[in-house]
Amino acid sequence: MTKRPHFDNTLDLFTMVDKSNGHRSDPDQEVQRGSSQERKPSRRSATAEIVAGLDIGTNKIAVIIAELDPRQNFQVIGVGVAPSEGLRRGVVVNLEKTVVSIQKALREAELMAGREIDAVYVGIAGDHIRSINSRGVVAVSGPDREITPDDVRRVIDAAKAISLPIDREIIHVIPQEYIVDGQGGIKNPIGFSGVRLEAEVHIVTGAVTSAQNIYRCVQRAGLKVKGLVLEPLASSYAVLGEDEKEIGVGLIDFGGGTTDIALFFEGSIRHTAVIGLGGRNVTNDIAQGLRTPVEQAEKIKLKYGCALERKEDGNEMIEVLGVGGRPSTMVPRSYLTAIIQPRVEEILTLAKREIQRSDYADFLSAGIVLTGGGAMLDGIVELAEQIFDMPVKLGIPHGFGGLVGLARSPIHATGIGLIHYGMRFRQEDMHEEPEDDSALFESILNWMKRLVKDLF
Ligand SMILES: Nc1ncnc2c1ncn2[C@@H]1O[C@H](COP(=O)(O)OP(=O)(O)OP(=O)(O)O)[C@@H](O)[C@H]1O
Ligand SMILES: [Mg+2]
Repeated sequence: MTKRPHFDNTLDLFTMVDKSNGHRSDPDQEVQRGSSQERKPSRRSATAEIVAGLDIGTNKIAVIIAELDPRQNFQVIGVGVAPSEGLRRGVVVNLEKTVVSIQKALREAELMAGREIDAVYVGIAGDHIRSINSRGVVAVSGPDREITPDDVRRVIDAAKAISLPIDREIIHVIPQEYIVDGQGGIKNPIGFSGVRLEAEVHIVTGAVTSAQNIYRCVQRAGLKVKGLVLEPLASSYAVLGEDEKEIGVGLIDFGGGTTDIALFFEGSIRHTAVIGLGGRNVTNDIAQGLRTPVEQAEKIKLKYGCALERKEDGNEMIEVLGVGGRPSTMVPRSYLTAIIQPRVEEILTLAKREIQRSDYADFLSAGIVLTGGGAMLDGIVELAEQIFDMPVKLGIPHGFGGLVGLARSPIHATGIGLIHYGMRFRQEDMHEEPEDDSALFESILNWMKRLVKDLF
């Protein structure tokens, strides 16, 4: 039975993976951890439904396991984090190391949750990601000119018929709005009468090899991929409110290897981009500027790092371990800030340029929301406000219960967002497409009844 189309504007039915096999075909079927069929269910495998997110970041790999409750909320029951060593700028460059990290994070999350998982929603980023807006047009097919799910499917197919180089694939096709006989702004056109149906969609593409490598790593770690989700899109589910998306908001995920951007206006995603710079560049600058090992530079950044010079830091001195056995030195904290600030300014200025290129710079009334580990750098919100000249706030994941203390961090915006995303798909899955015309008519009638009830 075919799946019912996803009519939510942030929905993405076309990249959805059939849960019967759980993943796209991949030549590399080797699974070190053992296939999910072989693995025994744990004692805690109760009736509650589980959704899991896997955030394969440049700095850390995080697995988040959540249990859905009957009211369609979720409780985070497991969080596992492992250092990531197999990625560069958001792209897998070492399969073995990435698999080991996924397995570590998975084990930790499963132990905490007391449940085993066999499938995950996985984030994808990297500077190979590109996005465009596209439009499709079809004639409404039915004799009574009433728009059906099939018309919607056809118009989306028409909108995504773009010419793509052989080495790129479509990751998301996200409907923004539908236009029926010239009347725009329609989020769900089913049941409308019309002759001409148009769809505006946002298409995200990525390098085929990058996506395949993610599939390989996840499969080798013994998991199935339920869906591949653009990381800033996932993060947006965790930190943005519908009201912010309506009046216009920009999400910037300042990660370890990439800085991801997603812009929303009138409730829909309008622009996405990935910049290949992040917190690792800040750390490397510190290592070079202070002549200290990278691990030491990272520690110094986390403890003393600041993106904006403050008068009160002027006289404070910090100890810096020398490289290659050289003696430690004491340097003013303001010197550290003078290393960090230009790099963070550069990254945020590139993000600003990307926003300006998008045509939506003047439509971000709710300002900017910062997520990712880099967003936790002291002073970055103030610096970002100066650069973007609009309100900026830290994006803390919301909308869940359970292990709130562990997961309510900008670092877990992508992981928590993947669960939100998975939960939406799961809900859509429950509505199977009606098999015959009478069932279809009944479903449209019910939908219209619900719509009327919502409106009045
Ligand atoms: N408290 C903090 N202050 C400053 N920087 C921080 C802090 N905590 C984490 N970071 C930085 O955040 C970065 C990691 O962020 P995050 O975990 O979001 O990246 P990632 O998801 O692994 O990478 P990416 O999304 O780029 O592939 C690192 O560079 C780390 O140094
Ligand atoms: Mg990330």
